[in-house]
Amino acid sequence: MQKRWRVGLVGVGRGSGYGKLFADEPRCDIVACCDTSPQALERFQRELHLADNRCFSDYGAFVRSGLDIVFVGTPMPAHAEQTELALEAGCAVLSEVTAASTVADCRRIVAAVQRTGGTYMLAENCIYWHFVSEWKAMVDAGRLGRIVHAECEYLHPIPTLIYDRQAGQPKWRAQRAPLHYCSHSLGPILEMTGDRIVRACGLGQAHNVLPEAPIGGIDMQVALFETASGMTIKLLRTSVLPRHPALHYYALYGSRGYVESSRHGLATPGMLYVEGEMSSAQEIETPMSDPSLPASARAGGHGTAEYSLVQDFLGSLERGEPPRLGVRRAMEMSIPGLIAHESACRGGEWLEVPALG
Ligand SMILES: NC(=O)c1ccc[n+]([C@@H]2O[C@H](COP(=O)([O-])OP(=O)(O)OC[C@H]3O[C@@H](n4cnc5c(N)ncnc54)[C@H](O)[C@@H]3O)[C@@H](O)[C@H]2O)c1
Repeated sequence: MQKRWRVGLVGVGRGSGYGKLFADEPRCDIVACCDTSPQALERFQRELHLADNRCFSDYGAFVRSGLDIVFVGTPMPAHAEQTELALEAGCAVLSEVTAASTVADCRRIVAAVQRTGGTYMLAENCIYWHFVSEWKAMVDAGRLGRIVHAECEYLHPIPTLIYDRQAGQPKWRAQRAPLHYCSHSLGPILEMTGDRIVRACGLGQAHNVLPEAPIGGIDMQVALFETASGMTIKLLRTSVLPRHPALHYYALYGSRGYVESSRHGLATPGMLYVEGEMSSAQEIETPMSDPSLPASARAGGHGTAEYSLVQDFLGSLERGEPPRLGVRRAMEMSIPGLIAHESACRGGEWLEVPALG
């Protein structure tokens, strides 16, 4: 008989989205939840239909309550310690993005995975958008030639999630520089090209929109990266400037052509040009959802991305294989942004990106 995975969720916001998927998954039982906020825990309990003794505010007791999988959906500063404790308790970890908010915490996660031999995967949902697999197939087939440059942007104003002006209180994102939140942008680029970043340089320190907030209130940051293959990547990030609608943007430039998403967002057509195949650029769809999946696969949010991610994670556990976004790839998608922000603090100095994992 197929094993049923005993799943525990920590952090109600993202935990709820993944909770819906795990609840619908016949191979899984959600057996516990954890949140430090009593109101959030109450909401979690209601959504997941769990008994009082399966709802924890004490994370240590939660990970020791007989779980196979822990979904870490808490703020980034909590990821390293919670990942370490879960791995030490023998649980596989699926962690929200990015892996951690400091390089020291990233090292702590890598060390815990190596010490315990446990399974860790970064829940970078954007690489599971359907168009990412379509673009990857195009790159792998060589249609764009050699990829020499990529661009990505994530422009999403969320000032109220950074600073509570009414209470005069910073929230955890007040300590998250725009460039720290890099994996939604770099993840798909690295996934499509199979590359990794070796050097980073960042700029951006202005505080016009949310001057009360520390680094989380920086207006906008831009980074340039160099990869192991010699490709360059430009990343643009804001969490405060009024860019409406919010934008995820991706572009790949190769020696035989280019592909780029729309500046109006992924719901509108992007452009593709392939030398020798077409006389001028063509419009292309950039679907977030895999059309072969049922409507129920959209329950996790972001089209079918979270559904496919969970299926991939469970499949790797069942086959005893390393997950697609294991600890090394998780670090390759998280650390460049931490280093690029460090560079911005040093006036844009080029810095090496350490390889961990
Ligand atoms: N992949 C995506 O598309 C996506 C979208 C939004 C957020 N995120 C990521 O999800 C994570 C959570 O973000 P959020 O906006 O939901 O955060 P949040 O501030 O809303 O916190 C989520 C929950 O975690 C609880 N919590 C905080 N610290 C805790 C701790 N130490 N132990 C247990 N519970 C704790 C809070 O009470 C809250 O209920 C972050 O890593 C963020 O980057 C990812």
